[in-house]
Amino acid sequence: MSKTIAISTGGGDAPGLNAVIRSAVLSAHQKGWKCIGIRNGFNGLLSPDEFTKYGGGTFELTPESVRGITHLGGTILGTTNKGNPLHYPIKKDDGTIGEIDRTEEVIDACKTLGIEALISIGGDGSMEIAHALAQKGLQVIGVPKTIDNDLEKTSATFGFETAVEFSTNCIDRLHSTAEAHERVMIVEVMGRYAGWIALHSGIAGTADCILIPEIPYSIDSVIAKINERENKGHHFTIIVIAEGAATKDGQVSTIETSIGQAIRLGGAGEKLLHQIEKRTSKETRLVVLGHLQRGGMPTANDRLLALRFGASAVRAVEEGHSDAMVALDPPDVKIVPLSEITKQMKRVPVNSDIVRTAREIGISFGD
Ligand code: F6P
Repeated sequence: MSKTIAISTGGGDAPGLNAVIRSAVLSAHQKGWKCIGIRNGFNGLLSPDEFTKYGGGTFELTPESVRGITHLGGTILGTTNKGNPLHYPIKKDDGTIGEIDRTEEVIDACKTLGIEALISIGGDGSMEIAHALAQKGLQVIGVPKTIDNDLEKTSATFGFETAVEFSTNCIDRLHSTAEAHERVMIVEVMGRYAGWIALHSGIAGTADCILIPEIPYSIDSVIAKINERENKGHHFTIIVIAEGAATKDGQVSTIETSIGQAIRLGGAGEKLLHQIEKRTSKETRLVVLGHLQRGGMPTANDRLLALRFGASAVRAVEEGHSDAMVALDPPDVKIVPLSEITKQMKRVPVNSDIVRTAREIGISFGD
């Protein structure tokens, strides 16, 4: 039976989004369905007039419009981490900023456009929105995306491997310059409140010290590691710090945000650098990898996972699932209820084999 489905991408982009879109559109097309792309998260539905120069807030996705995009980073739909319809920012009469729930408007816009099902690709915020829309009667399937690897109920999200690969390459390149100048080199990576990117790239890139949110660190312990290396005649140290790393007294480094944006992490590496320079005679340099980790081509594995998620999401719609998310449960892609995902975060288990491996090969966690 013919169907009209819509696709949206929300939150920070991750390599592999375009592969999901292509896969969903091609498999829906094979079933004779029509696909509508929503621009910039749900803003294409909530503020369609903002997109008149692009021809509107929504547009038809055809096999032709998704040709040749599997390997491209970013998203052809655009994305945003502002304008969450569940907590939409508004300026109140007294000048302060409040928020309203605009999910009913999303439902109405879908009805007007004849959208019968929605594939919502995003991280925890998008899954929360997807759950709310499904509760209001729209058929919704979520597709998990994040470079942070912090989503529950899926053993992997596309974009993570690409970010780890890139970060590892960068750490590899820093070894020679750190050694040549006998410096401490700090590499700050993303990951929000989970240390997956720091942990995986730090071990693969043979860092000496890895600081992650799950294992609060003390500066004394970091300095002890630097000194231990000095005493062994290794006059350089590589430290990988996650942007969400916390000190033992619970300090996480944040920076200012604009209206409607979640708390932004930043500055963890810089704070560490000042401490090291104050407490040692070592010259120290900081490299913040930032959004470079989200750019470029997805790895082959991330593409494959994204393509599998796209086709599985369309299959889930056809089978009548709703209020659910596609998830990798090797070797298969499964369907899990969205209610099990929201408000939980997958963090690094501190006694996991991977953390133990790191400790056993001499990597310090600064604890
Ligand atoms: O969730 C992905 C992510 O890249 C985080 O690792 C990071 O904290 C955040 O997004 C950065 O967001 P923005 O693009 O708003 O700077």
